[in-house]
Amino acid sequence: MNEFQNKVAIVTGGTSGIGRAAAVAYAREGAKVVVAGRRTAEGEETVELVRVQGGEGIFVATDVSKAVQVKNLVERTMQKFGRLDFAFNNAAIEQEPTPFLEQDEATYDRVMDINVKGLWLSMKYEIPAMLKTGGGSIVNTSSGAGVVGMAGAEIYVASKHAVIGLTKSAALEFGKQGIRVNAILPGVVETDMFQRFVSEKPDLRAQMTAMHPIGRIGKPEEIAEAAIWLSSSKSSFVTGHSLMVDGGFTAQ
Ligand SMILES: NC(=O)c1ccc[n+]([C@@H]2O[C@H](COP(=O)([O-])OP(=O)(O)OC[C@H]3O[C@@H](n4cnc5c(N)ncnc54)[C@H](O)[C@@H]3O)[C@@H](O)[C@H]2O)c1
Repeated sequence: MNEFQNKVAIVTGGTSGIGRAAAVAYAREGAKVVVAGRRTAEGEETVELVRVQGGEGIFVATDVSKAVQVKNLVERTMQKFGRLDFAFNNAAIEQEPTPFLEQDEATYDRVMDINVKGLWLSMKYEIPAMLKTGGGSIVNTSSGAGVVGMAGAEIYVASKHAVIGLTKSAALEFGKQGIRVNAILPGVVETDMFQRFVSEKPDLRAQMTAMHPIGRIGKPEEIAEAAIWLSSSKSSFVTGHSLMVDGGFTAQ
């Protein structure tokens, strides 16, 4: 039997892009999927895609930066499906490229609240639920910006470096209790986030494509496949790891 059958996955930021592709991939593998995000219509669309795979899923409206909402997400998961095996903590926002000295406190707070606090809160509530059935696998979405700097995106870069610190430290703390925690570091991927980033800047798309030695940017499904591998027992000796899925971007 497929090891994902009768297992349950939470996907945050499952309303679009990489999160949506991951929700579909978990469903294809046989897991039940809890799609979390702020936008109900888009979340329900993802649940519909899960059903098209023959899967079962629910949407739980969640702003990951709010403890009460993340707590509710995990409670609803346990009420509906009775267990939690996988979490893909993927919700994040980008930072509009801005010279450092013009970056403001409100942007700092918004990016850090969602990208760092939101991921910390997600793990804080997911881990106790996973421990009830002997463990699980957590995959956190960092970025190539988790290991390299980007002028004009200092806050986003700091937030994605922080994801790696949270990932490594939680992996150390819960390794003996059956919870593995890993990070995926995507290169540039064709999603809404990328569209917003390059909109009205046609040169930027070509520049960003050229940054990838493989000669193209990535597809959401290519990141989702890495999340599936890190969730599965095929990666059973992998924890605290940062997996580059970036077309060679960070190999340069
Ligand atoms: N697209 C890229 O090039 C790229 C590259 C590296 C890393 N990433 C990372 O991949 C992840 C997914 O991004 P994407 O490219 O699919 O973009 P996206 O904008 O399509 O997806 C991000 C999702 O997170 C959701 N979200 C934002 N704030 C939230 C909040 N407070 N609570 C709950 N959900 C929230 C958004 O609604 C959206 O559905 C992010 O962590 C992003 O930083 C993306």
